[in-house]
Amino acid sequence: MGATILIGSQWGDEGKGKIIDVLTNQADWVVRYQGGNNAGHTVEIGAEQYILHLIPSGILHPGKRCVIGHGMVVDPIALCEEMSELEERGIDMDGRLLISDRAHLVMPYHRLLDAGHEKLLADGEKIGTTQRGIGPTYADKISRTGLRYCDLLADDIADLMRTQIERSNARLAAIGSDPLDVETTLASLMEAVEHLKPFIGDAIVPLNDALERDEKILFEGAQGTMLDIDFGSYPFVTSSSCSAGGAATGTGVPPHRIAGVLGVLKAYTTRVGEGPMPTELKDEMGEMLRSEGGEYGATTGRPRRCGWFDAVIARYSARISGIDRWALTKLDVLDKLDKIKICVAYELDGRRIDTVPARSKDLERCVPVYEEVEGWQTSISDVSRHDDLPAAAKDYIARIEELTGVETGILSLGPRRDSTIVLDDCLFG
Ligand code: IMP
Repeated sequence: MGATILIGSQWGDEGKGKIIDVLTNQADWVVRYQGGNNAGHTVEIGAEQYILHLIPSGILHPGKRCVIGHGMVVDPIALCEEMSELEERGIDMDGRLLISDRAHLVMPYHRLLDAGHEKLLADGEKIGTTQRGIGPTYADKISRTGLRYCDLLADDIADLMRTQIERSNARLAAIGSDPLDVETTLASLMEAVEHLKPFIGDAIVPLNDALERDEKILFEGAQGTMLDIDFGSYPFVTSSSCSAGGAATGTGVPPHRIAGVLGVLKAYTTRVGEGPMPTELKDEMGEMLRSEGGEYGATTGRPRRCGWFDAVIARYSARISGIDRWALTKLDVLDKLDKIKICVAYELDGRRIDTVPARSKDLERCVPVYEEVEGWQTSISDVSRHDDLPAAAKDYIARIEELTGVETGILSLGPRRDSTIVLDDCLFG
């Protein structure tokens, strides 16, 4: 046993990048298994800030091996840009970064199709995607028409790509989008292909061999349970399996190798993009959470919608992914409040429910049932021991644990690496 999965337990943006960064010391490998550059994992090291979109956050730790698993969809041009930025900042990737040869390529036309489809949807139907081509790429994967990284190693890759671009122009025309210039598009792709070739290979064997050698693997989930294609607020979701199950299908590491699941949980709720969010606050309190928490998308810069902590969603997430411990983040954002609300259940059509309904239209109509607890009204960012937290902060954490049935293993009280309290060394079995 040597693999732990870290997942987002709400609508993404729970602060996974920082927690991954803190845990990477204990891991030999850090592996992404789903999503693409719709993700933006922010890590602060001293005065430096890094935002990683495709490359696992473990790359910031010298010596750690990183894998872009085959469950991901990877834009080769965006990946080259991310690699160049890291190289310019002195991060060496040679021999440390492996791109699974089974991962699918996000092509320039996927981005245009993503934007074009969104434009065709009526208000109320729009998903508010990151427009990174994620949905159309996964659609092509499932339709069995996609291109994979193993194809880039074939001699006829330029022809394969040319055919795909030509075909995509008909698809673009059908939704009223401008066509791509085939040769210019091909040239920029081929430049990226040459750069990436040395990093492409089989990832299933090295990961399973690593486990045989008792090495530790940390799976870095992106987005969160409520954006999961199956479990999320469909259709206002992303197109991948963000929950723990995705780690097995997205890498080829079998489920029985998983020693633990850590759910990253923000002390309140946020969401970017469209779709239901029962505890959303469209008032001054929502504004306060946004400004205190710096709640702006790391990928698109969009303001995040903010609201009270929703225990129904946290409980649902714990159930689906078998979460062993919470990493509770951004508790310090609540420092100034005298009263804090927690959503403990919903009311739907006069009935009290304690799980997430399948239909987004029903979730939209759910009215949160709140209980109110005391705030602590003092800064906790410099607290380094759980015992030293104000009583009201400890009570807030305990209430979340009670409502969700999951204990807290890690507390994050600020963006810096050292604003973290590890309560329980729960990783890797
Ligand atoms: P897509 O993943 O770009 O197709 O976007 C689908 C939905 O997921 C939109 O509501 C996005 O805002 C949301 N989304 C995608 N990636 C992230 C993320 O990393 N954090 C938060 N929301 C995300």
